[in-house]
Amino acid sequence: MGPTNPVAGAGRFALHRDPHPARVATFAEDVGRGLSMRPYTLMPKYFYDDLGSALFEAITYLPEYYLTRVERDLLATYSAQIVAAFDEPLELVELGSGSATKTRLIIDAILERQDTLTFHPIDISPDALIESSHALVAALDTLHVRAYAGDYFTLLRAKRVETRDRVLALYLGSNIGNFEPAQARELFGLLGEMLAPGDGLLMGYDLKKEASVLELAYNDPTGVTAAFNKNLLARINRELGGDFDLNDFSFFARYDDRDGVVRSYLRAERALTVHIPGAGIEADFDAGETIHMESSYKFQREEMIALVMPFGFTEHRTFSDAAGRYALSLLLRS
Ligand code: SAH
Ligand code: AVI
Repeated sequence: MGPTNPVAGAGRFALHRDPHPARVATFAEDVGRGLSMRPYTLMPKYFYDDLGSALFEAITYLPEYYLTRVERDLLATYSAQIVAAFDEPLELVELGSGSATKTRLIIDAILERQDTLTFHPIDISPDALIESSHALVAALDTLHVRAYAGDYFTLLRAKRVETRDRVLALYLGSNIGNFEPAQARELFGLLGEMLAPGDGLLMGYDLKKEASVLELAYNDPTGVTAAFNKNLLARINRELGGDFDLNDFSFFARYDDRDGVVRSYLRAERALTVHIPGAGIEADFDAGETIHMESSYKFQREEMIALVMPFGFTEHRTFSDAAGRYALSLLLRS
């Protein structure tokens, strides 16, 4: 499907939807696969329906979830330096842009140097994408937004993101941490193909630290992260006719020091059977049995640089906070 202009924005906002929905594994297929084999798993990209995106936004306000705040402070301090590493004019691409609140800091820094800017946000949540794009074009009359609603793996594989100038790609929020190492390598391969020599990739990622701090960021006492996870069961009920009783499940997250990853789970508190007609399955749970909901990998700077190097990226500079909680690595496509 081609671009559409559903609302105002003076022609400066175009929305592209996933190009080949029929060929992409659907929610039903992925849920069916994840809950028909043990250990049970669900894919975290499905957290982000309308309510899920709003719950993630709430997580970013939690005192325990320091990631967003530290990244925002780093961007507020270093955006001008980051942008100055490139020739003008720059175009901006962002993977998993969400509310794009922090992106505004980079956009402002670019518009200090050039008259207009095209921003290409990609997000699986159409709601978050449309809302953030409208807010940006309304606030900045020299900004053009070409938004892509879909899975960024699919869009990058299909080479859907068309740019003309020098590109700075943003991959913020420690989103890379939600992928197992093999998937992360595939993504860096796709980014390496999308970008030309001289282009940049700004990677935001959470740094390894004490288990107590990491676990508290996910096991927040207010229970917002638990709700964020349980909403995926509720989404299965809403969209696939499932009969999960959310009260039967409890949330926990644990840091695995050896692999450097916080893994999040929902645990069945009693033996039960769930029916999901839209996915064509029934899933039996023993008392105490878990669904692996999400992995959130943590990195050392050296590990991140070594991970991206085989795909043609070199480190230009890495910015980090004084407490060493979070890092932004500015990588150059060589
Ligand atoms: N960049 C924002 C949002 C992070 S939350 C921030 O740093 O605060 C993760 C975002 O990535 C969500 O908006 C979610 O909808 C999106 N997302 C997750 N998996 C995705 C995928 N496979 N393809 C495209 N978007 C994805
Ligand atoms: C988007 N992603 C990097 C978040 C994370 O930290 O793994 C999602 C999240 N899950 C629970 N809290 C936040």
